[in-house]
Parts: sequence; C-alpha cells; structure tokens
Amino acid sequence: MTRYETLASTMAAEIRSGSIAVGSRMPSLRQVIAQHGVSQSTASRAYYLLEEWGLVRAQERSGYYVAPGAGISGKSARRPSAPAESSKVDISDLVFSVLDAAKHPGIVPLGSAFPSPLLFPLPRLAKSLAQATRFISPWSTVADLPPGNEHLRRQIALRYVGIGISQPMEEIVVTNGALEALNLCLMAVTRPGDVVAVESPGFYAALQAIERLDLRAVEIPVDPVTGLDLDALSEALDKHPIRACWFMTNFQNPTGVTLSLEKKKALVELLARHDVPLIEDDVYGDLHFQADYPLPALAFDRKGLVMHCGSFSKTLAPGYRIGWASAGRFTDRVQRLKLMTTLSASIPVQAGIADYLQHGGYDRHLRKLRSAFRTQLQEMDASIRRWLPNGVRRIHPIGGYFIWLEFPEAIDAMEFHRLAIERGISLAPGPIFSASHAFQNCIRLNYGHPWSARIDDAICTLGKLLVHPSVRVKP
Ligand SMILES: Cc1ncc(COP(=O)(O)O)c(C=O)c1O
Repeated sequence: MTRYETLASTMAAEIRSGSIAVGSRMPSLRQVIAQHGVSQSTASRAYYLLEEWGLVRAQERSGYYVAPGAGISGKSARRPSAPAESSKVDISDLVFSVLDAAKHPGIVPLGSAFPSPLLFPLPRLAKSLAQATRFISPWSTVADLPPGNEHLRRQIALRYVGIGISQPMEEIVVTNGALEALNLCLMAVTRPGDVVAVESPGFYAALQAIERLDLRAVEIPVDPVTGLDLDALSEALDKHPIRACWFMTNFQNPTGVTLSLEKKKALVELLARHDVPLIEDDVYGDLHFQADYPLPALAFDRKGLVMHCGSFSKTLAPGYRIGWASAGRFTDRVQRLKLMTTLSASIPVQAGIADYLQHGGYDRHLRKLRSAFRTQLQEMDASIRRWLPNGVRRIHPIGGYFIWLEFPEAIDAMEFHRLAIERGISLAPGPIFSASHAFQNCIRLNYGHPWSARIDDAICTLGKLLVHPSVRVKP
C-alpha cells in the first residue's frame, strides 16, 4: 500500500466505526498533515480516495464531510413496518455517491441501471434519424411542440392498441425520457408538503423527485414475490392525506416483481375509491419473457386517474431521451408543465424514433432483445448458484434485466458495495432503494449485458467478498 492509501484506510476505519459521525466535518488538510506527519499531496490524495469510496464529499471552500450512508455499517437490515409514517426524504447524496462510484468505464456494470448499448440497433436507428431529418418540415419546430410530434404519438398510440388498450393519442405527451414524464406527472398532482405513496424498495428517482419537490413519502412495502402490499396501501390511504401514488406494476425496479392482473385491477379500484391518481412507471413492460406484454394498471382505469409513463430508453435508445406520459384527465396540466420546464423534447429525435417505429422493425428487435435478456438471466443465475453461498435468496423476474438478491441479515450491502467497487465491480446496494435506507442486506444486479467470463469472474469475486469480515455486521 502507498502512504496515501494507508492514510485513507485509517480514516475510512474511523468513519465506519462511527467515531466521525455522518454529516460532520472531517479534519482539515492542515490538521491531517500535522497529526499524521504526511505531506500535503499525501493528505489530498487520501481525501480523493475517500471521496472515490463514497465515504466523504467535498464542499467548496469548506472542506470534506462524512457522506450520508458512509457510517451505516451497523444499521438494521429490516424492512420498514407497514404502513409507515410519512417522512421527508434525504436520499440524493447516498444515490449520487453510489452512482458516481459505478460510472468508471472500466468497471463491471452489475450495478448499472442500463442494459448494454451493444444490444440496441443503433445503425438502423441512425438511418431513421437521417431519413426523418432530411424531410423534416421547417415548421416542425412549432408543430411538434408539446404534446409532441404527431407521427410519434400515433405510433405510441398504436403500440397501446397492440397490447389491447385503446389510448387516444391526444392524451400522450412526449417527454425527455420517462424520468421527465414521471416528474411532470408528480408535479401535476401535488404541491409542496403533500404526501405521496411510493414503493419500498422502490426506484430511487421517485424518492429524489419527492425530495426535490419538498413532498413527503409514505413507503408501501413491496414483497419481491407478490409485489405491492395492497392492505398496507389501503391502511395508508385511510391514515394519510395521500395525494398521489408512484408505483411500478411490471418488472419493478429493483425487485423485478410483476403484479398479477387481479392485483392491478384491485389497485386501480382502491385508488378510484379514494380518488387518488396513480403515476404508473412502466419502462420495462416491453421486456417480458412470457408471450404477451403484461397489461399495466392503466388497462383497468375508468376514471382517467392513471398516468402511464413509458420510454424507449430501456429498449431502443437511452441516449435519445424520448419517453412519454399518457396522462388521462391530467393531460393538459402535464402538457403545460412540459412547456414551462423544458419546452419540448428534441424535434429531430422525435421524428427519427417515429420513423424507426414505423419502418425499422421494432418488434423484431424487441424479440431479439428479450431473448438475449432471458439467456443472460440463465447465465447469471447459474453463476450465482456456482459462486455465491447457499443462504442467498434469488428473486426470479419474468422480464426486465434486474435480479434482486437477499442475503442473511448480517450482510452489510453498503460495505459490500464499497469493497466491490475497489475491485472494479459495481452493484446496486439495497439502501439506495428506500427513504429509510433499509434493505441493508439486499442488492440488485444487472444482467442486461452480454454474458462473458469477466462477468462470471466478477460474481466469483462477489462470492469471496461475502465472507470478508467487514461485510458482516457485528451483532
Ligand atoms: C424504473 C425506472 N423508471 C424510469 C427510468 C427513467 O427512464 P428514462 O431513461 O426513459 O428517463 C428508469 C431508468 O433507470 C428506471 O429504472
């Protein structure tokens, strides 16, 4: 070990033991130099390393602070009890530190939220983009403003028809990816201070949106096998003035669970009785392993309360940033918010995707993509069985590209993540999927990349790390 690595490890141990509390200021560079008898460059490099490990974060002109989540090795792994109290959310720092650590191009991307770009028909898509922009009308700058390019909205409406839902194209608003659609829908139905029901574990961006909009969250438990706990939701609806729900009904992120049709119907009926809108995040619906698209909750909506959000980011072109909200009775509000925030999704890109949907063979591509994910899941499952100990609970998804693993309660996923990053492997630790940083003993792995010996080796390394003393929380 170099001098600065040794220094960083010593300071890391202090942080993890809790002797420097989360959020508190670390010693200044001058203090470190004096205390440890090291040079300025050694002290600075030690801090850079601690930052890379997600243990501290720099604050301009103020120094380094212990990052949220850095000192939580001893926290309970238990799920939040249901129905929870509503709470303010403070998740962003933890999520950013985990996402930042995983961004390095050399890393094995088991914690990534994206599938491999090599699985997308990028040359064919580029052809559609070239074709569409060659003939684009100069007036499209105005004509394609929200709700968006008419050709694209018609193609999206046709895809709804293809799964048995008649969705008027007038209710479809094109956005910059599903994330914008979800955020606009949330803004359309809430005001600061309102209470929103989210899943636990659930997609961290829902928590970040709640944090950003100064809302409060009630976490509704999600069972990795049966999905959202409707009894807990019903109790929460009686107890709290819930203004909106943000749920995934197909291939939920992170657990991969899909609600049965009966549960989707019951969910829509329950919310209709309380007149509460549902923001339905369905970005993975097209990635089903069974014959048909699992109908979203939208299919049961009779009151225009379901705002269904989709995207081409997970299936076709993450970088094109095209998604949509089919926003029912809230369409006008969503459309206005779109105009007031980012004005419009890129006009040439909307036209290019519309051309691809009509002429590019999207359904053929989806069949190939689903088949690749199914095979990759089998490979990953075999690798997990080969290298991880028996006590690991694997939750088998029937679509998407995430697998959720539950370890014995003594495992600390944050520490597991930190050690994995040091070895060039990312994973998504359970605590980033809940406002209360629960799911301490769980991780989400991504199998959306073509299988390789490198991935198998990475799982083998994870297996070895699971017996590392610092990954086991002391009783
Ligand atoms: C569950 C879920 N919803 C929405 C999004 C955002 O999708 P988009 O890239 O289309 O904005 C993601 C991306 O990670 C996601 O995992």
